[in-house]
Amino acid sequence: MAQKGAHDVTADQLIVTTGSQQGLDLIGKTMISPGDKVIVEGPTFLATIQCFRLYGAELISAPVDGHGVKTDELEKLIAEHKPKFVYLIPTFGNPSGALMNAERRKKVLEMAVKHQTLIVEDDPYGDLYFGETPPPSLLALSSTVPGSRELLVHCGSLSESAVARIACGLDGCACRIAGPRHHVQAVQ
Ligand SMILES: Cc1ncc(COP(=O)(O)O)c(C=O)c1O
Repeated sequence: MAQKGAHDVTADQLIVTTGSQQGLDLIGKTMISPGDKVIVEGPTFLATIQCFRLYGAELISAPVDGHGVKTDELEKLIAEHKPKFVYLIPTFGNPSGALMNAERRKKVLEMAVKHQTLIVEDDPYGDLYFGETPPPSLLALSSTVPGSRELLVHCGSLSESAVARIACGLDGCACRIAGPRHHVQAVQ
């Protein structure tokens, strides 16, 4: 976690899972009640859509451009729908490929605090890049936005980076989800 700029995450804020996908499933299982609204990027990862719908979520799409989710539109949707949480893939969105810029990342965290909305950051691809390093994850940036860490759950993945592009049956590679203590305890 320290390598990813999240120096102050403690063991009781972490859960080791079999992958980001299991983390997302645990979040769905523990947080979503039928009829709850969840905001996702449009488009977003198909398996997440299927997972959250399985638990009865009504998904609302926030539009994305090359710089990630459009934060002005996202804020309007949060204010209108008061979602259970917002699910984002800020770094190399799947399937959009969009890379959220640093300004929008900060805005997302400020918005979370302003509206007291939980953000789920799915970050399986943050370690996979050529050339320029992507901006810091929401998790790393959360130390610069007071109050945002308690409203953030971060799902990482080892399988996507350790065995990148080699589907060699290592799906059991550990990853971790990190979040506020009370969410982590609820998931555990
Ligand atoms: C956005 C996104 N989240 C999660 C996953 C699954 O990650 P893992 O293999 O760690 O379960 C993928 C894999 O395609 C993905 O694209």
